[in-house]
Amino acid sequence: MYLPSFSLEGKTALVTGAGRGIGRAIAIGYAEAGADVVIVSRTQSDLEETAEHIQQAGTKAYTFEADVTNKSHIEAIFEKLDTQNVKIDILVNNAGMNIRSKALEVSDEEWDTIMNTNLRSAFWFSQKAGERMKENGGGKIVTISSVAGHVALRTGVVYASTKAAIIQMTKNLALEWGQYGINVNSIGPWYFKTPLTEKLLADKDYLNDILAVTPQKRVGELSDLVGPAVFLASDAANYVNGQTLFVDGGMTIQGF
Ligand SMILES: NC(=O)c1ccc[n+]([C@@H]2O[C@H](COP(=O)([O-])OP(=O)(O)OC[C@H]3O[C@@H](n4cnc5c(N)ncnc54)[C@H](OP(=O)(O)O)[C@@H]3O)[C@@H](O)[C@H]2O)c1
Repeated sequence: MYLPSFSLEGKTALVTGAGRGIGRAIAIGYAEAGADVVIVSRTQSDLEETAEHIQQAGTKAYTFEADVTNKSHIEAIFEKLDTQNVKIDILVNNAGMNIRSKALEVSDEEWDTIMNTNLRSAFWFSQKAGERMKENGGGKIVTISSVAGHVALRTGVVYASTKAAIIQMTKNLALEWGQYGINVNSIGPWYFKTPLTEKLLADKDYLNDILAVTPQKRVGELSDLVGPAVFLASDAANYVNGQTLFVDGGMTIQGF
C-alpha cells in the first residue's frame, strides 16, 4: 500500500480569517475531510455561518472572535484551547488584508496595519502552535502567501513585502522545526474571487489584464484551493517541507 492518507479524520485544525473567502472555504474543506476546526476572525456573525457549514459536514467547530493583530487575543485563544484540552494538529495562517497605496503614499499606519495583519500574526500563531506541536510530536502549518510575494504585481509594495516574507518565514520555520515532525509550507494563490478582490475583478479591464497572463484563462474557484490545502495538512505531505505551492493557473511559470 503506497497511497498515504489524505484524510484529516481525528485531527483538529485552526484556521485564521475563516469568517469568509479563502479561510472559510479551507475550514469547510477540512471539516469535509474529517477535521474539527477552530475558526478565528473579528466578526462573530461570519464565524457562526462558517461554524454551521462545519457542523453540517459532521465535525466540531470552535469559534473565536479575535483580532489577529493583538497578541493578547492570540494568547487567550491558545490558553482556552489548552484548558479545553484541544490539541492543534494543523494551523492555517490565512487572515490577511491589503491597502493598495503607491509606494510614495504609504503611511506609517498603513505599513503597520498590513504588516501586523499579514505577517506578524502569522508568526505569532506559528510560534504558539509550533510550541505545542513540538510537545505533541508534530503537526502541519500552512500559511497563505500570494503570487505577489514571488513576482512584482500592482498589489502595492507593503502587501507584496508581507507575502515575500511569509515565503521566507515558511522556509526558516521548516528548517528549525522539521526535526520535530512539524511540516511548514505555504500556498501562493493567484486571483480568487472573494470579498477582498471582488471590486477589482468587477473591473473588466483589470480582469482582462489578469486573464492575459493566466495560462488557464480564468481566475481561481475557491474549490481549486481546498485540495492543495487539504494535501498540505494531511499525511500525504509528510515529506513536503518549506515549500510554497502556487495555485495560480500557471501564472508564475511563464517567460516572455
Ligand atoms: N483572494 C485572492 O485573490 C487572494 C490572492 C492571494 C492571496 N490571498 C490571501 O488569502 C488570504 C485570505 O484572503 P481572502 O481573499 O479570503 O480575504 P477576505 O475575503 O477579505 O477574508 C479575510 C478574512 O480574514 C479575516 N481578518 C482580516 N483581518 C483580521 C484581523 N485583524 N483579525 C482577525 N481576522 C481578520 C477577515 O475577517 P474580519 O475582517 O471579520 O476580521 C476574513 O474572515 C489573505 O491572506 C490574502 O492575502 C488572497
